[in-house]
Amino acid sequence: MSDLLSLSHVSKIYRQGGMLSRRQITAVRDVSLTLGEEPEILSIVGESGSGKSTIASMILGQTAPTSGALNFRGMPVAIHGRSDRRAFMREVQPVLQNPFEAFNPLKRVDRYLFETARNFAPDGNRPSRTEVERMADNALAHIGLTLAEVKGRFPHELSGGQLQRTAIARALIPQPRLLVADEPVSMVDASLRMAIVNLFGQLKKELGLSIIYITHDLATAYYISDRIIIMKKGEIVEQGGARAVLDNPQHPYSRALKEAVLSASPDMEPASLA
Ligand SMILES: Nc1ncnc2c1ncn2[C@@H]1O[C@H](COP(=O)(O)OP(=O)(O)O)[C@@H](O)[C@H]1O
Ligand SMILES: [Mg+2]
Repeated sequence: MSDLLSLSHVSKIYRQGGMLSRRQITAVRDVSLTLGEEPEILSIVGESGSGKSTIASMILGQTAPTSGALNFRGMPVAIHGRSDRRAFMREVQPVLQNPFEAFNPLKRVDRYLFETARNFAPDGNRPSRTEVERMADNALAHIGLTLAEVKGRFPHELSGGQLQRTAIARALIPQPRLLVADEPVSMVDASLRMAIVNLFGQLKKELGLSIIYITHDLATAYYISDRIIIMKKGEIVEQGGARAVLDNPQHPYSRALKEAVLSASPDMEPASLA
């Protein structure tokens, strides 16, 4: 059985300050990882600037690696032509960090759902209004909202939590196989974070989705992940099952993770054991 996603010795060097500058930043260095066919939540954890978003962007085909290879279902993740790109995006969808930036404040949020439904309608047919609304409502049902609740609303008329749920629902419309969620709860109230992150566990079970959950929030990563990768300065410094990383942290950052988790709530178990 081939891997769903594989990164093999992926590096990304940014040149800063224009063409003539020699200043280089190695954002990602020699990262290898795989996701198998089995639905899985993989967290990529690391402090700001450790290269997490660069990895997300390369997995989404938005940034080309400087070296190394990224494959999805055995095919290179490249900056494809339009129709290839759409086929790829049908399977791999982003969830963005800040819903207040992802949604234009002057545009009703249902428009985003409808546009995505039109773009990714089955067989490329132009779907009817009813069909588009049905696709949006279906996706919203998975995250505990209904179309009636968001229809006609502007972003500021929804709470941060509702808006981020709507963003996740939008990503579900193409019925993807993989979500890449880059800091999806960092702008959401701390009290709501766990509820949103728990949705990921539910989506994995109900829809057979795999999720790459990128965060610097150590506690949520621990509770929700099957596997954790810890990054520092562009490199993977530790990886393994959520429980294994927590029980036997090798790296100072992993030890900080352990402390954060233990102080957050002593009686919760990681998702993989639940
Ligand atoms: N487009 C870019 N051009 C130049 N440098 C970048 C660019 N994007 C990210 N970087 C740099 O690469 C490093 C990793 O950034 P990033 O992947 O955003 O990390 P993280 O998401 O973990 O905070 C940082 O030093 C950042 O300044
Ligand atoms: Mg980032």
